[in-house]
Amino acid sequence: MNKKPLILGIESSCDETAASIISENDQGNPIVMSNVVSSQVDIHKKFGGVVPELAARSHVEKIDWIVQKAIDDSGINIKDIDAVASTAGPGLVVCLSVGLSFGKAFAASLNKPFIAVNHLEGHALSPKLNSKLNYPYLLLLISGGHSQYLSVKNLSNYKRLGTTIDDAIGEAFDKTAKLLGIEFPGGPQIEILAKKGDPNKYNLPKPIFNKGGCNLSFAGLKTAILKISKEINTDQEKFDLAASFQKTVIEILYKKTKIAFAEFEKQNNPKEKKFVVAGGVAANKEIRKMLINLCKKEKYESIFPIIELCSDNAAMIAMVGLEKFKLKQFNNLDYPAKPRWPLDENAIFLKGAGIKL
Ligand code: KG4
Ligand code: ZN
Repeated sequence: MNKKPLILGIESSCDETAASIISENDQGNPIVMSNVVSSQVDIHKKFGGVVPELAARSHVEKIDWIVQKAIDDSGINIKDIDAVASTAGPGLVVCLSVGLSFGKAFAASLNKPFIAVNHLEGHALSPKLNSKLNYPYLLLLISGGHSQYLSVKNLSNYKRLGTTIDDAIGEAFDKTAKLLGIEFPGGPQIEILAKKGDPNKYNLPKPIFNKGGCNLSFAGLKTAILKISKEINTDQEKFDLAASFQKTVIEILYKKTKIAFAEFEKQNNPKEKKFVVAGGVAANKEIRKMLINLCKKEKYESIFPIIELCSDNAAMIAMVGLEKFKLKQFNNLDYPAKPRWPLDENAIFLKGAGIKL
């Protein structure tokens, strides 16, 4: 029997230091042998957001033992690792550099190939760790920094169908939480508070709802929340605002996803209609519920990563590494950290003032 590939993945693009070993079973399905994530939430909480210098320092302090733990947890022999895959972007350069340099040095010391991974591609492929998934598929990537609909045509072959023209959806959740006095990162807390609130209490705006194809916008929603948050006094009003915000986001995603479906079908004429939702916000159960129902109606198969693999982790980085390893797509050791690295390099940059849709 041929030896199955063993890939070490390393992630340090933002505020999670992570390492993972993955392999494959006889059917060619990936197996997560270890997945270690160390979050820096407690370090950044008091600043209300990620402080790059503190994040980088913490990555430096932890990276050795996180990688060691991933190797120990997997029970493998270090010499059997076939390739090392590190996140090279997008993200904070000071943070990326830690995992990238460590991964390159590790690969060189083992005399094994090094693979530079796009963090967003990690999210895009994360459901492959628990579901059979062939190309092409439609992806909704919803995280703290990105909100995009993409046609995933093949490995490293993406066509952007729509994106946010201002805030990312996770950012909107976090900013709303901050206005309600919830500690960073407040996104998951909004989901909890919303359960106790009336989603119809506040009528909030839905920017570019009726134009701009499946592009998204959340900045106007945040401004409306800012105004209302100044006038609320009771806990019940807080719950109602959280619920109204979440409902509005769900209505926006419902409409925009339908548009993305039509665009995906027009461009790809796919044999199978598959819809993948990935990124931190894909952990939100109400958003999941709505998208699953929409998929049933529109005859799409809905595919989500398991909840623990929605937020940043290294198993998804190793997953991209595994696919690239099988295609012998390796990188040189001078591969740079890339603060900006869109999945669709040909898509125009839409963020900023004065965008006309
Ligand atoms: O993918 P991720 O871990 O990091 C980035 O690459 O950005 O996503 C983090 C984002 C944060 O904005 C966080 O508040 C949001 O995902 N998030 C949620 C939930 N869990 C995480 N937003 C809404 N509901 C949740 N349950
Ligand atoms: Zn991420």
